[in-house]
Amino acid sequence: MIALISDIHSNLEGLNAVLDDIQKQSVETIYCLGDIVGYGPNPRECIDLVMQCKVCLLGNHDQGAMFDPDGFNPPAERAIFWTRAQLESPGESSQKKEARWEFLAERPRTFKENSILYVHGSARNPLNEYVFPEDIYNQRKMDRIFALVEKYCFQGHTHVPGVFTESLPEDMYQFHAPDEIDYVWKLNGRKTLINVGSVGQPRDGDWRACYVLLDGDTIRFRRIEYDIDTTIKKIHDIPDLDNFLGDRLRDGR
Ligand SMILES: [Fe+2]
Repeated sequence: MIALISDIHSNLEGLNAVLDDIQKQSVETIYCLGDIVGYGPNPRECIDLVMQCKVCLLGNHDQGAMFDPDGFNPPAERAIFWTRAQLESPGESSQKKEARWEFLAERPRTFKENSILYVHGSARNPLNEYVFPEDIYNQRKMDRIFALVEKYCFQGHTHVPGVFTESLPEDMYQFHAPDEIDYVWKLNGRKTLINVGSVGQPRDGDWRACYVLLDGDTIRFRRIEYDIDTTIKKIHDIPDLDNFLGDRLRDGR
């Protein structure tokens, strides 16, 4: 069984709760689909924990921390610069700092295994493209993306978990939210995109941390409660992190 986590966004309480839950399952390996940092208060701790994952992809916020951030709104950009300062923090050994920078710099943008593609954004643009539930009505976009997927593609980036399917020959697309499918989906050989949701900043109206278990053909969406008040307080206490970045956690938006 594989656990798929994504979009941790420096939320240590969310990540620890998810890792605890993973430990209770018979999980052999953890894959992370990117965005370890950005928005949240614990970038260093989250990178250190994610280093144990067998696969970890580059997310757009991880890239933003390393290079000049591009395409971020002002609060996200401020959070990126604050994150960079944390990674350069003078109180830490240079060995630790270098190990984290090296880890970020070595992250691949895609990973493929047994006809399954793993990306942060989309098969077409692994780092930056969003595939939102409402994109099922954008047939041109979905046609292009589905054409690039051999069978199954696991992705993150939108922070909205769920399953995208196509019905042929009409080329219609469907989106299945986790609560509509009792949090379980069986892969059936048809092309499918699976968004694994976000550990550290869910945006589907459910505040609980989200991740996915992949067991053979079965996908399970897990929602995990965590100490959200601690995370929000940390964000409120850091001037460079906009209060809104904490407040939105409560609503899962
Ligand atoms: Fe993200």
